[in-house]
Parts: sequence; structure tokens; C-alpha cells
Amino acid sequence: MQPKGMSRRTYLNMMGAGAAATRLTAADYTTAEDRERRMKWWHEAKFGMFIHWGLYSVLGRHEWAMECEGIPVAEYEQLAKKFVPTPDAARAWAKLAKAAGMKYMVMTSKHHEGFCLFNSKLTPYCAPKQAAGRDLVKEYFAAARGEGLRAGLYYSLMDWHHPDGALCAKDEAARRRFVDYIHGQVREICSNYGKLDVLWYDVSWPLNAAGWESERMNKMVFELQPDTIVNNRNGLPGDFSTPEQHIVASKDRAWEACMTMNDSWGYHASDDAWKTPKTVVRNLITCARQGGNYLLNIGPKADGSIPAESVRILTAVGKWMDRNGATIYGTERCQVWGGQFWSATRKGNILYPHIYFWPGTVASLGGLRNKVLSAKYFATGQPVKFVQDDFRVRLLNLPAAPPDSPVTTFALTLDGEPKQDMNYVRVERKREGV
Ligand code: GLC
Repeated sequence: MQPKGMSRRTYLNMMGAGAAATRLTAADYTTAEDRERRMKWWHEAKFGMFIHWGLYSVLGRHEWAMECEGIPVAEYEQLAKKFVPTPDAARAWAKLAKAAGMKYMVMTSKHHEGFCLFNSKLTPYCAPKQAAGRDLVKEYFAAARGEGLRAGLYYSLMDWHHPDGALCAKDEAARRRFVDYIHGQVREICSNYGKLDVLWYDVSWPLNAAGWESERMNKMVFELQPDTIVNNRNGLPGDFSTPEQHIVASKDRAWEACMTMNDSWGYHASDDAWKTPKTVVRNLITCARQGGNYLLNIGPKADGSIPAESVRILTAVGKWMDRNGATIYGTERCQVWGGQFWSATRKGNILYPHIYFWPGTVASLGGLRNKVLSAKYFATGQPVKFVQDDFRVRLLNLPAAPPDSPVTTFALTLDGEPKQDMNYVRVERKREGV
């Protein structure tokens, strides 16, 4: 029965709305089925671009400069006067991401420094209200979509600028204000730019999930963006784990290794510890082999231009991906580990051995427990002669120098799901003459 004085229609509408509201709980969005639906594109994508950009890009000494150099807030704020990027700088990032074979991008909408690249009603400390005078998140989305890439946003919960950013840990009134501010900004980035493909929280200091009201935060996110995915850095498990600067697979859940190309996330003018294109390709293969994603970072300069080394590395990676990308995208967890000069990815019963240290005219792959039905160079489709016994398959008549760079990929069709057992080799190989 409806309450007295309320029409039946109003009552039914209200009940309907109530039912709809209870359908949209964070718990529903954590069901395996819904997660699988939301994460399908991401699992296939494998390779994304991380972008760290903010006032620290003006300093060019790493994104932690404000804290590590002990810079006072009032002094640091002055950087906002110098942060005036070239219009639509993000277009070049999106073009480079696409050329590199990346399928999605994730940009810092606010890093720990507290400066927002998006238009926030909740603070004047944001690009549109400072010298930049433009909504850089809007430009970023337009750029990513223009190249057909998925687009996500990074958002730091930790905030070195907000007056309650540290106080919130010991003062309830400060916590209330600060959590309202953070939730309010998360609402803004989930509401004002259309589809948000990934929400990438970072650093939950100084509160825990209860303090941040993270359940309520995720519930709001999924109400506003029912198709999005969230990471695990607001104190809750979220949809995927985020190993940082190293590749560590999660056994039974989605994971994404995020890594820098040198040793800094934000632009660091003198950081010359660049990875080689080969290291990047090998990392990507390692991630794909273990069922994960690789989110590789660029740190644009304050004007938005990309450091030349990053362009060089990603361009080389992209050329390799043009020929070999199909051995990465849409691959499944692969039990085959490889050997001292090779690694592998797989799709169904097809194994893709990736040779990164060329062995010469014969490549001997040990411990494969399947029968090899056929073998070819993946990039050219040219067949490869091979012989197989119980312990190894040998690819024969190879050129003395590697035909592809930085990694040469083969495709072996097997009689079942690829399986490698090095213990079998160690135990069963005959020890004649001993
Ligand atoms: C860390 C760092 C940060 C970087 C992030 C990327 O939490 O504090 O600077 O943005 O990792 O994963």
C-alpha cells in the first residue's frame, strides 16, 4: 500500500526508482559477469599509453619535485603562470600512441601536486582558470577519440595542495570537507567528458578505504559510467591490479603493469635512463604472456611536446607492432615460458615464439610437450623447416642474422594448448655414458 496522501502512480514511480537505485550498487559492478563485459576491450588491447603531465612538467625534475625538494605551496603555485601548453598538444600523443600500437591512453587529470587539468567548479587551481586558460582534459579526450583510442583518466587521491589533504587523517571535519572535495572532483571527471573508459586512482594516503568512503565513490563512478573499469588504488580491489615499475602477474585477476620509459613519470629533463625498444617489446611480450596489460608512460614537456627519445622508442616499437601486433592483441595466458633467448605468447593452440637474442641458423626450443604441426615466420608467413623429438623442437635453416628487429616472431601450430615442461627435460633426458 502506498503511504496516505500519495497517488498510486507516484508511489509506483518511487518504488521503481528505488529498485533502479538498488540495482546500481558497487557490489553489482563487481560481479564476474559484469566485470567480464566491461573489461573485454581492455583484455584484448594489451598495450596502453600513460601520460603524466602537470605543473611539475614546467620544472622538469620529476613529478615528485614539490615534495622531494620541500617546495612551499605558495612558491609551487607560481608554476601555474608558466604552464601554457600549445593548443591540442594531445593530438601528437594520440598519433604517437596509435603509431606505437597502443589501444588506449590514461592521462593524469590531477597528480599529487593538486593542480587539475580539467575544469573544476571546486577549485580555482585548475588549467582553465589559470594561465593555460583551457580545459586540457577536454582536449585530451578529443585527441584520443580522434585516433579511435580508448581514453581513461588518472586521479590522485593524495593531494599536497588542498588544505585538508593531510589534516583529514586526524580531524573529522577536515576529512568530511576533503572527501566531499575528492568525490566531487571524481564526479566532475565522470560527468563532463562523455565516456570514460578507465578510472585510474592513485595513492590513497593518508586515509583507508573507509576514510575515503571508497565503496560510495565507486558506486557513484559506476552510476555515472556503467561501462568503465577502475583500478585498485582507492583501497578497494577494483577491476584490476597495478604492479608498478615491475611485471608481476596476478594469478586469478586482471592486472596491468605500468612503467616509465626512463626513470621518471613526469618530464625530467636530465633523466637519460631510457629503455631500449627491445626492452619495451620484451616487456610487452612478458605482460601478454602472463595475461596482463602494459601501460607505458610518456612525460610531455610543459608545452605538451614529447621528449624526442620517447618518440624514437615508441616509433620503433610501433614498426614492430605493425608486423607482429597480432601476436600480442587478444592473446591468452600462456603457460610456455620460453628459454634464455626466447619468450612466447599464444592464441588457442598457436604458439608465438618471440626470439630476442638470435641463436644463429638453428633455434632449439626445449621442453615443449605438444606436437608441432606446422611452423612459419609470423611476419612474412614463410614456412620454416623443423624437426622435433621428445625434448626439443628445432627450427632449421634460419638466416645467420635475425630477420626482424628488435625481436623475431614465429608461429607454431600445435596439436593442443601450448605446454612446456622443463622438469620433464631435466628428469627424463637419457644420461647415457654416465
Ligand atoms: C606512484 C607515484 C606517481 C606515479 C604513479 C604511477 O604512485 O607516486 O608519481 O604517478 O605511481 O603508477
